[in-house]
Amino acid sequence: MIGKKLTVRDIIDMKNAADKIVVLTAYDASFARFLDRNGVEIVLVGDSLGMVALGYESTVPVTMEEMLHHSRAVKHGVERALLVGDMPFLSYQVDKREAISNGGRFLKEAGCDAVKLEGGLEICETVAAMVRAGIPVMGHIGLTPQTAGALGGYKVQGRDAQSARRLLAEAKGLAEAGAFAIVLECIPDKLAAAITASIAIPTIGIGAGAQCDGQVLVSHDLLGMFEKFVPSFVKRYADLAPQIAGAITAFRDEVKAGVYPDAEHSFVMQGEVEDLLRQDKG
Ligand code: KIV
Repeated sequence: MIGKKLTVRDIIDMKNAADKIVVLTAYDASFARFLDRNGVEIVLVGDSLGMVALGYESTVPVTMEEMLHHSRAVKHGVERALLVGDMPFLSYQVDKREAISNGGRFLKEAGCDAVKLEGGLEICETVAAMVRAGIPVMGHIGLTPQTAGALGGYKVQGRDAQSARRLLAEAKGLAEAGAFAIVLECIPDKLAAAITASIAIPTIGIGAGAQCDGQVLVSHDLLGMFEKFVPSFVKRYADLAPQIAGAITAFRDEVKAGVYPDAEHSFVMQGEVEDLLRQDKG
């Protein structure tokens, strides 16, 4: 399914064409290749890397170097999709210069097409400065995992009128600042629909209902490979953990029993070399 390389403009045009945008996460080249070859339009190197691949308790400890390392790997598996790198906690909040310089590293050193930043009105000036510097930015509002502690935990956002109004204002602010798309995480479906209708750039939902312009999931959740916890909005399209466990125990059992490798999986000697070894012995 590899075709023309997608651009930020193509992603915005998909909203206008009512063509739903498919986004999934990847942290390495071979996984990214699966997504790219199977019609995923945006591959996101999420800072969920921290929990899914690095074993951290949250996304907070993830560093710029870790994100760049994995983004570079993912880049090797992506030909068509738009590649977005997630800026880690405190890589863009300190000041605009640092945000531009760190955002630029995703483009220059990892080959990403764009970056994603969590936050609302407080980061709009930063987003505008990054866009002016030539860095395409995807926003992320609602439940923002990097600051989940400050939000009182991993909770649905925008349930009351005041916070719903704030989220609407944040989406408009980010769109005005020049973001090309916004992730809406864990907000009521009707609020997500209202936000989607109120801005000209695509919304990408995760736990935000069906009216968003696109949907994103963590790939390991969709495939049933991350067992620590499963958010209620996740639909598992495969249950790979038991299959992986089954394959590993089958390998272990065959090695212990001396069944693997059999002749079919060994390099069998040619007749002359066998003769030579026999002669040497003799
Ligand atoms: O880090 C991540 O994977 C994300 C997506 C789930 C939106 O931010």
